[in-house]
Amino acid sequence: MTSFDKIIERRGTNSYKWDFGHNTRIKNLLPLWVADMDFETPKGVIEAMKNRVNHGIYGYTFRPDSYYQSIISWFKEIHDIEIKKDWIVPIPGVVPGISFAIQAFTNPGDKIIIQPPVYRPFYEVITELGRRINLNPLIEENGYYKMDFENLEKIIDERTRMLILCSPHNPVGRVWKKEELERLGEICIRKNIIIVSDEIHADIVYSPSKHNVLISVSEKLLDNTIILTAPNKTFNIAGLQSGNAFIPSKKLKDQFSAVINSQHLSMSNIFGIVATEAAYKYGKTWLNSLLDYLYKNAEFVKSYLESKTNVKTQIPEGTFLMWLDFRNYNSKDDIHKKLLENGLWLNEGKEFGKEGIGFERMNIATSRKIIEKALKIIEKTVKK
Ligand SMILES: Cc1ncc(COP(=O)(O)O)c(C=O)c1O
Repeated sequence: MTSFDKIIERRGTNSYKWDFGHNTRIKNLLPLWVADMDFETPKGVIEAMKNRVNHGIYGYTFRPDSYYQSIISWFKEIHDIEIKKDWIVPIPGVVPGISFAIQAFTNPGDKIIIQPPVYRPFYEVITELGRRINLNPLIEENGYYKMDFENLEKIIDERTRMLILCSPHNPVGRVWKKEELERLGEICIRKNIIIVSDEIHADIVYSPSKHNVLISVSEKLLDNTIILTAPNKTFNIAGLQSGNAFIPSKKLKDQFSAVINSQHLSMSNIFGIVATEAAYKYGKTWLNSLLDYLYKNAEFVKSYLESKTNVKTQIPEGTFLMWLDFRNYNSKDDIHKKLLENGLWLNEGKEFGKEGIGFERMNIATSRKIIEKALKIIEKTVKK
């Protein structure tokens, strides 16, 4: 079983998270930014990959039935939903999946709703494809975020075609409740809006919160919803670029697949296929231990910051990301720059939209020793 306390050197592996620091002038930054984990993937995944490597021939490869069955069983067991094999469309990642959906279901100039503060690439993919962003900011009350349904009704007009949902929500860590998803779904169905539900963080949810795959909350959503999933975050295999869309509507599935086919993308990376199947088959016990470790990290961060600083935070309901509120930081200095100067690299809150000004996002998927070092840097920075 993986020891989550074990520190594995990642520098020198071309890791975005650990090696990207050569772009800054500051040496030996502690990088708790980009959302991958510092943990080894489950042993079952490593074994399956080794077996494949040992074969020595890596020719064109298709996905066997067992690949699809592993996804179906995982979603039944973990999320209590029956996914049908013919809903599944493999994708090379969730962000590419969002891009395919935008190309399939909207036209240049159409408006697409996102709910900031939210994951930066949502903004980028919409504008890079020549569509317009329609913002429905989340409402914050004492560090807890909710969707603004009244504003949502108001901002939808005849050019609004799509809403991209982040579920669970990066960076604020909300796991949307069934009633919230029902209300969102009802509005989008009534207003004829397609929902692209990015559920990449679905498995990283702390009890008693429960993730609801969007189409499980109402049968009516089967006709207007695209679910995007991937084992990338859950099992720390983002470098293998493997994901899956679930599209129950045949019409939408055909349109989505047509975009993929038109780009002649080969999405059969042999190692992505092997790792995905093995992770979904053998990863459940590992996931439970991971969740336990991450939750304790979150408790540690919260209690440390509460007792030693005026930085506020909440234990997230889901994701391995914490949203730190530095708005009490009493200085003219830029907190992000100060943290960098002191050796800590977090994601600057404004990257997620102007609602994120004064916040930083911290990735807690690392050993507790590293978390402790990071917290000491935060303490030193805000005390000065
Ligand atoms: C909400 C969300 N969607 C998508 C991604 C990236 O997905 P992929 O690497 O599969 O494109 C991330 C990674 O941080 C994320 O947080």
